[in-house]
Amino acid sequence: MARLGVNIDHVATLRQARGGQEPDPVWAAALAELGGADGITIHLREDRRHIQDRDLRLLRQTVQVRLNLELAADSAIIDLATELRPEQVTLVPERREELTTEGGLDVVNQRQRITEAVNRCRHAGLEIALFLDPEPAQIEAALHLNVDAIELHTGRYANSHEGPPQRMELEALQVAAEAIVTAGVELHAGHGLNYRNVLPVARLDRMAELNIGHSIISRALFVGLERAVREMKNCIDDRTPRA
Ligand code: PXP
Repeated sequence: MARLGVNIDHVATLRQARGGQEPDPVWAAALAELGGADGITIHLREDRRHIQDRDLRLLRQTVQVRLNLELAADSAIIDLATELRPEQVTLVPERREELTTEGGLDVVNQRQRITEAVNRCRHAGLEIALFLDPEPAQIEAALHLNVDAIELHTGRYANSHEGPPQRMELEALQVAAEAIVTAGVELHAGHGLNYRNVLPVARLDRMAELNIGHSIISRALFVGLERAVREMKNCIDDRTPRA
């Protein structure tokens, strides 16, 4: 069964809305772990719109499962990563005007910049994942870099209508996934996954890690975080009986 990395950025977004201390993402991480999270995922953005350096430092000390730091190919943030050594770094593109990470990395056109970032993380001994759209050219280019994992961007799948459009997007994910695992690189996926659409992605052959934030934190408002995480774990577990 794939690991579940719970993205807690939204907890920090709510805190930043008032600029105070609550809710604290450090508390959220502890509750997510109690619910069965296999990892905690945070994105330290250059504009620090949600997660702060203080969160990363504290979470590094308190998280007992895998800490996955999403980051742009930005020198100052890579410095922090090499100092604090999360179990994994996931390189993502970043644009200031976007609401959330809207697309995968453009390895084809930004090969030098991404290679330099990968090499710096590699030199520091960090496990490295790249966040990519399920585009054959991007996957092919990324497989030439020395990375441990590729996280497939599932946004197009998640946003497509159920039926043939969604099946087409799932097929694109399947083709990309096959190329990744055939090359011996670990397969991850994330973005837009929720309690209804996650299972086909979790069932892709050798899916190792799913990173999910928005849907879990939204449900947590109503059922509590620990339960919301446990319910997502059940959704990605093929062995759970289905109604
Ligand atoms: N994976 C990556 C690389 C992301 O940037 C995000 C969003 O921050 C996620 C997974 C989680 O996406 P969502 O919040 O839609 O579940």
